[in-house]
Amino acid sequence: MSTIGIILAAGKGTRMKSKTPKVLHPLLGKPMLAYALEAVQAATGRRPLVVVGHKAEAVQAAFAEKADFVIQDPPLGTGHAVHSARKAVPAGTRWVLVSNGDMPLLTAQTFQRLIEAQKAHDGPITMLTVEVDDPRGFGRVLRKPDGTVQAIVEEPDATEEQKRIRELNVGAYCFDAEWLWQALPKIPLSSKGEYYLTDLVGLAVAEGRSVQALRLEDPNEAIGVNTRVHFAEAAAALQQRINRRLMESGVTLIDPTRTYIEPTVQIGRDTTIWPDCYLRGNTTIGENCEIGPNAYILDSKIGDNCRVFASVLEYAVLENNVDIGPFGHLRKGAHLAEGVHMGNFGEVKNSYLGPGVKMGHFSYIGDATIEAEVNIGAGTITCNYDGERKHPTKIGKGAFIGSDTMLVAPIEIGEGARTGAGAVVTKNVPPYTLAVGVPARVIRKLKKN
Ligand code: UD1
Ligand code: MG
Repeated sequence: MSTIGIILAAGKGTRMKSKTPKVLHPLLGKPMLAYALEAVQAATGRRPLVVVGHKAEAVQAAFAEKADFVIQDPPLGTGHAVHSARKAVPAGTRWVLVSNGDMPLLTAQTFQRLIEAQKAHDGPITMLTVEVDDPRGFGRVLRKPDGTVQAIVEEPDATEEQKRIRELNVGAYCFDAEWLWQALPKIPLSSKGEYYLTDLVGLAVAEGRSVQALRLEDPNEAIGVNTRVHFAEAAAALQQRINRRLMESGVTLIDPTRTYIEPTVQIGRDTTIWPDCYLRGNTTIGENCEIGPNAYILDSKIGDNCRVFASVLEYAVLENNVDIGPFGHLRKGAHLAEGVHMGNFGEVKNSYLGPGVKMGHFSYIGDATIEAEVNIGAGTITCNYDGERKHPTKIGKGAFIGSDTMLVAPIEIGEGARTGAGAVVTKNVPPYTLAVGVPARVIRKLKKN
């Protein structure tokens, strides 16, 4: 008996005051709708059906691989949205899980509980509720004197007394499909000119059927996003959840409130994250590292025992025992092998720095391949761009690049070669020779050691 998940995302999101559809606002690096999609997919084991309307193309494009879509046009309320989805629900579907697309904290486990509760229930609806002090404009759950659920009343329609009710409708439900399809056309038009899904609760009760309410264990899951203030609250709650998971898995966060870590980031045991770090995207960090304070790391891979202090890493790879910073910048294609030391004010782009390379101060390395144990003196620059094209630089094993050397690419420095301070190197330097001057010329052969 199959269950389908329907996610409602056709609303205008007017209260966000944004040109971007509400569900596409990135929340910790992922569009808000991704959270509901992933949780519903995990709970049902099926691709969710997403109801789109406002800026439908943009929402569809963002999730083309993760969901199926139906268009609701014009959007006439949450009940109308589910009704619009009916035509896309395969025959034989027994249960329908419905969730609002603006509830990013609801977990797969909660949806699973909701489905299981409905499967064990006689009546046609199980709904998720929460008890919190701040009602945030949510629908209130009315109960009969015997404690059973009677109806949901939306805030604009609630009496003063009803507004004081603190049991709220979270906006996630599991329905008996057969009952749902025959009941949807019966929803009356509300005072706001919409068909409210929430009216189904009163309709079922009026038919003598029972509606079950499942209370949320963690009220944070009920944080819905209608405004940018809610958006910040949701981000903070999600961050807390991520931080807790990391700390429980053996990562030290010196000050979790001052750490931004996206859900896609993986961090190994005994790694310490100092405050003011931004760890983003497909970043993985190994064990026993020290990151920060002040690091921005995007889509990068960091091995074990690394130290990254006050630096920016984008699409970079660090093998084990690398240390960088303060004020280093690794750009796309930077690959620092085992034991590289990169001190302050260094920039590396699209380059490989072999094992044990030392680059202590003020250097730019772009489009270069640098073999093991090379020493790059302070102020070294690979002049990789001639105004039209980028050119490569190669530096052989154990070479010693003197301070303030300009390497005018394309250029090759041989194994064990040296350049003098201030050299402007325009011709290849053969292995085990010393080149000095402007433009640099070879003045001596060197002994191999
Ligand atoms: C809704 C519930 C309210 C609940 C709250 C919890 C109704 C009538 N009210 O109110 O009881 O406490 O959620 O979050 O359901 N949408 C469509 N098509 C439409 C209208 C809305 O797809 O025609 C989508 C929106 O994009 C949104 C979701 O449904 O993702 C909920 O709509 P929203 O306007 O945010 O409803 P709330 O006022 O939050
Ligand atoms: Mg809402």
